[in-house]
Amino acid sequence: MRYTPLSAATYREHRARFRQHMDKGGLAVFHSNDVMPTSADGTMPFKQASDIFHLSGIDQEETVLLLFPDATDPKDREILFVRETSELIAIWEGAKFTQKEASALSGIATVLWTSAYEATIKRLVPQCELLYLNSNEHLRQSNEVETREERKNKELRAQYPLHGVKRSAPIMHRIRSRKTQEEVEQIQRAIAITGKAFERVCGFVEPGVKEYAIEAEIIHEFIRHGSRGHAYTPIIASGYNACVLHYVTNDQVCQDGDVVLMDFGCEYGGYASDLTRSIPVNGRFTKRQRAVYNAVLRVKNAATQLLRPGTLLAEYHREVGRIMESELIGLGLLDKHDVAKQDPERPLYKKYFMHGTSHFLGLDVHDVGLWNEMIQPDMVFTVEPGIYIREEKLGIRLENNILVTRDAPIDLFADIPVEAEAVEALMARSRKKALA
Ligand code: GLY
Ligand code: MN
Ligand code: MN
Repeated sequence: MRYTPLSAATYREHRARFRQHMDKGGLAVFHSNDVMPTSADGTMPFKQASDIFHLSGIDQEETVLLLFPDATDPKDREILFVRETSELIAIWEGAKFTQKEASALSGIATVLWTSAYEATIKRLVPQCELLYLNSNEHLRQSNEVETREERKNKELRAQYPLHGVKRSAPIMHRIRSRKTQEEVEQIQRAIAITGKAFERVCGFVEPGVKEYAIEAEIIHEFIRHGSRGHAYTPIIASGYNACVLHYVTNDQVCQDGDVVLMDFGCEYGGYASDLTRSIPVNGRFTKRQRAVYNAVLRVKNAATQLLRPGTLLAEYHREVGRIMESELIGLGLLDKHDVAKQDPERPLYKKYFMHGTSHFLGLDVHDVGLWNEMIQPDMVFTVEPGIYIREEKLGIRLENNILVTRDAPIDLFADIPVEAEAVEALMARSRKKALA
């Protein structure tokens, strides 16, 4: 395995948390993602569905998990199905999980081959009162392709139309919102690798380098430290490109005097990290760039301190908007009289800061979470304010990942330089090292 997985005890804990929210007689079914085709005989790299991974740690296609806490036979209370392996599969595709390995990793005693799924369903569904079926209820999901889970849900509902059905997604959002200790440690491993990649590019960026060459340096560092790669498509945006929020072509040349915004983070063991740094291509910020940079930094630091239990995320976002507003007035980008008269539904700061400040982070970079409840300890968020000034061809965003605790929030990126002077010093140091 390329990464150290979480312990079986932690996967057991995740399942116990799910069970706490189930009604009596419920049977929950979780499926894997499909292996997605490309063209001819090609397939995309397999990406496991986050929920079954969270509950079992099994990163393998065709895996199914059943949770049936009230089953009469204790062996039926948790059942994991894994794809049956064979000599032929071992030769062409390499090793797959044996039942014993899947059991040791997940902490689930009953492991069967996936071929036993249909018969097991036929045996157990008549014993249960209601089915818990899962679906993608992420606020921004927009998937036109029917997932394996949706197909299997349809089959179950057609087969058992008289059974009650409940949604697993709200429970998953709840339990995935608050990270267990080993999950935080896994995110920290991802962050440590992302930090190494940042250090590496600080010694690499100079006038004339292509944005995609920076991307190549980053992925080299990711993979050599056991990550499978980017947790999301990286943004390497120099000059004006930084004002294009989802710029991912990364095909321009970094120019002397410009700032390059780099939004990247590796996955490690399935967990994401999410960093943004904006650095001067020639190693030194201009006066104006520094002023904008420091304004973004102050907003980031103030926002971090607001991530405390008991605050609603909507209130938090409004408060950060007010802080940003006053920074934009300070930079001469907004007029305080105009701000005083603005429509509160359409605040003027959105001209320069048009995205949210924070999102949940975990197995998915834009992780599922409890958007309409108070912030709670053990939640992990990004904090990522930015100022984008198209007329100056300048975009600066700074993004760190923060763990909420009962006390002060913990900055998981505390070791990765962010002050303008620290970034300049790191660039000077790393360049010298790269030349040596
Ligand atoms: N790069 C995705 C994000 O920062 O949210
Ligand atoms: Mn990001
Ligand atoms: Mn982010």
